[in-house]
Amino acid sequence: MCGIVGYIGTRDAVEIILSGLHRLEYRGYDSAGIAVVTSNGLDCVKAPGKLSGLEEALRRHPLHANLGIGHTRWATHGAPSETNAHPHLDAPMEIAVVHNGIIENYHELRAQLQADGVEFRSQTDTEVIPHLVRRYYEGNLFAAVRRALSKLEGAYAIGVVCSAEPNLLVAARQGSPLIIGVGQDEMFIASDVPAILKYTRRVAYLENGQVCALHRDGFWVEDIDGVEQRLPIETVDLDETAAEKENFPHFMLKEIYQQPEVIRNTLRGRAREGSHEVRLDDMHLAAGDLLNCSKIVMVSCGTSWHASLAGKYIIESLARVPVEVDLASEFRYRNPILRPDTIVMAVTQSGETADTLEAIRIAKKSGARVVSIVNVVGSSIARESHGVLYTQAGPEIGVASTKAYTSQVTALSLFAIYLANLRETATADTLGGVIEHLRAIPEKLQWCLDHQDTVRKVSGDPRYCHARSFLYLGRSYNLPSALEGALKLKEISYIHAEGYGAGEMKHGPIALVTGAMPVVCIAVRSAVYDKMLSNIQEIRAREGLVLAIATEGDEAIRRYCDDVIYVPECYEPLSPIVVAIPVQLLAYYIAVNRHCDVDQPRNLAKSVTVE
Ligand code: AGP
Repeated sequence: MCGIVGYIGTRDAVEIILSGLHRLEYRGYDSAGIAVVTSNGLDCVKAPGKLSGLEEALRRHPLHANLGIGHTRWATHGAPSETNAHPHLDAPMEIAVVHNGIIENYHELRAQLQADGVEFRSQTDTEVIPHLVRRYYEGNLFAAVRRALSKLEGAYAIGVVCSAEPNLLVAARQGSPLIIGVGQDEMFIASDVPAILKYTRRVAYLENGQVCALHRDGFWVEDIDGVEQRLPIETVDLDETAAEKENFPHFMLKEIYQQPEVIRNTLRGRAREGSHEVRLDDMHLAAGDLLNCSKIVMVSCGTSWHASLAGKYIIESLARVPVEVDLASEFRYRNPILRPDTIVMAVTQSGETADTLEAIRIAKKSGARVVSIVNVVGSSIARESHGVLYTQAGPEIGVASTKAYTSQVTALSLFAIYLANLRETATADTLGGVIEHLRAIPEKLQWCLDHQDTVRKVSGDPRYCHARSFLYLGRSYNLPSALEGALKLKEISYIHAEGYGAGEMKHGPIALVTGAMPVVCIAVRSAVYDKMLSNIQEIRAREGLVLAIATEGDEAIRRYCDDVIYVPECYEPLSPIVVAIPVQLLAYYIAVNRHCDVDQPRNLAKSVTVE
């Protein structure tokens, strides 16, 4: 939920840390701060608001050092403010800590420390850490941090510096992501890879329960008990510009436009032309586990939950395996009924969503096999699953998920084909046909991106962009599309929107229909097209404002709608991937017309790594 960067080397730590924090702002941006160790001791500058506030503060109070830590925050405990901004310091102001996560026993720790006379400056859970480190500090920061961490319960990724040890940066993680960057005579720590790509492509992924000491020329890792750990150093082939906006006004629009290429990347090496089989070698799940599975339970949150719903339809139609889709936040508390022949599938872009991570831990404890659909390589969920299917969508910076969603539905389609082949629940011809339809998807997405006149017109129409509330209606494969369209609109334009199964209209929602409420109806050619048309006519009969998403060439639907956005003809089970483009663009342009902060919507963060 927050972004951490640390540096030790021979260059200007402040410049490097600020550069990294900018690339992590999507993780949270309600306050920020930097602490550095200089020959005069520890110095720290913090500011509320986005990074620009910290940069302004640094112009007033410049810092120069070769060792430092920085943080951009999304508040969990303590309101956004300079006092609550990280880094947090011990009483003598010689030890500084940045933290991502939640210390669940901070109340008890704070009470114990206060009983010993420690005075707290902030309302945060984090501040217990520097005071605990101080308590155990006897001239060895690494040992003191390790002892302090043994008192903590909850999730953390931390960076620690101490004025008495100007050649040491300490890092540790438990439940929140933290990577180590290996440079030439310099080392880095960061919450995510894009933060340090400008400086090094050589990274190591700190594991849960590990503490790391970084010096300019290398790093040393131990577990919480002091046992040395070895970490492989990997070379990241991420393109640095992939995390830049390039010439797009927002990351979100850039990522919407990336989707044709993203789907090609998701399919790359897996769905070959002319074949009825897909290759998922990297999934590392034994065929026996899939052959014998009696049920698949999908766990996810938000947009990934919508992708899971779309995946359910596709997997059940091709592989004929029962699929349950559960909100991870519900699954983890409902004592789920799991058996060793149950497969639990997490769907997650970040691979760090707290509820989804806990859900797979519960699944593993019950003996279920866990396979996850993940975008971030080396993320916690990826590394804790038995099998992983990476969506290969590249970093998704915009808080509103777009390319992750379409790549997730694509990956789930690949999984469905793989399973159907294994279980022989569909013919080679059928599956070969589905693969060809999948391979044709990128061009259909490109077609939608090349035909935006209507969506841009509608987005500027006051009846839509100044509406107080929207309804999104879909059926069957496109019920998830309706839910996803509504979420996109509400989270970036702040217009209330509800996604509904169109068949539910008569059970309540139709009472809401007036000329002031736009109703987005997903009415592409499908087995339920006639039903959707009936729903549209019911809405029109009540003066409703109807915006349909329909199949190119369907002119008849125009007579029942106020506006129609067309998409190319598409194999129905895969149509949620194509329909995603117009609903994403509709939300994007309305949000821009309403001057909303599209990439960093209020109250949201890209990765919900706390409950
Ligand atoms: C999507 O637009 C939202 N930002 C949010 O619902 C997101 O999908 C959800 O938090 C799940 O994140 P994950 O895919 O990283 O697990």
